[in-house]
Amino acid sequence: MIRVVILISGRGSNMASLLAAADSGALPAHIVGVLANRPDASGLNTASACGVPTAVVDHRQFASREEFDTAMAAAIDHFAPDLVVLAGFMRILGEAFVRHYQGRLLNIHPSLLPSFPGLHTHRRALAEGLRIHGCTVHFVTPDLDHGPIVVQAAVPVLDGDDEATLAARVLAQEHRVYPLAVRWFAEARLRLADGRVVFDSPQDGAAALIAPQAAGG
Ligand code: GRF
Repeated sequence: MIRVVILISGRGSNMASLLAAADSGALPAHIVGVLANRPDASGLNTASACGVPTAVVDHRQFASREEFDTAMAAAIDHFAPDLVVLAGFMRILGEAFVRHYQGRLLNIHPSLLPSFPGLHTHRRALAEGLRIHGCTVHFVTPDLDHGPIVVQAAVPVLDGDDEATLAARVLAQEHRVYPLAVRWFAEARLRLADGRVVFDSPQDGAAALIAPQAAGG
C-alpha cells in the first residue's frame, strides 16, 4: 500500500471520495495525513472523523511563499508519503516545492485542461458557450494548472445550466476520476517518463477518457 498525503483548502469533497475509496478497499492506498493551509477548512473535520491525522500550515503565518512552501514540505515529509494529492488546494506552490515532489504530485482541476487554467472555470465555460466541459487529473509542474494529463472526464453543458448546476455535474466526475488516477498510481500502472504520462496497459490509457454520449443523435 502506498502512503498518500492530501492537501486541501476547503470542504474537501474530493478528499472524502479518496478516503471512501481507500476505506472500501477499492484504493490500495493508506491516507496517512490531510494538511490544510487554512485552519477553517471544513474538510479537516471530515478527515478527523475518519480517523486521519490532520495538520494546518497557515499561509498567513509566513512572510514569503518560499517560507510557506518549506514549512508545508516539512509537514508533508513528516508523513513520508509516496504520493501527494492536491484536492481543492488553493495556494500556488513554488518551483522548488514542485520539483521536490516531481512525479508524485497530482492535482485535480475543474476544466478540460489546457482550457481554463485558474479560477471560475465553470463561469468561463458558460460564457464561452461550450457544449462540453469537464475535469482533469494531472501531474503538477511549476506551471499553474499545466502538467502531464492522467485522466479527463467530460460532461455536457446543458441549456439552462448555471454555474452551480454545471459545477455539480463536473464535481460528480471529479469524485470518479481522482480515485481512479490514484489507484493507477498506487498499482504502479502509470508513471511519468520524460515529462509524459505512460500507462503500462493500453486499456488503462483508453479508460483515461470518460465522455458522455451526445443527447439526441
Ligand atoms: C474542486 O472542483 C477541485 O477541482 C477544485 O476545487 C474544488 C474543490 O472541491 N480545484 P472540494 O474541496 O474537493 O470539495
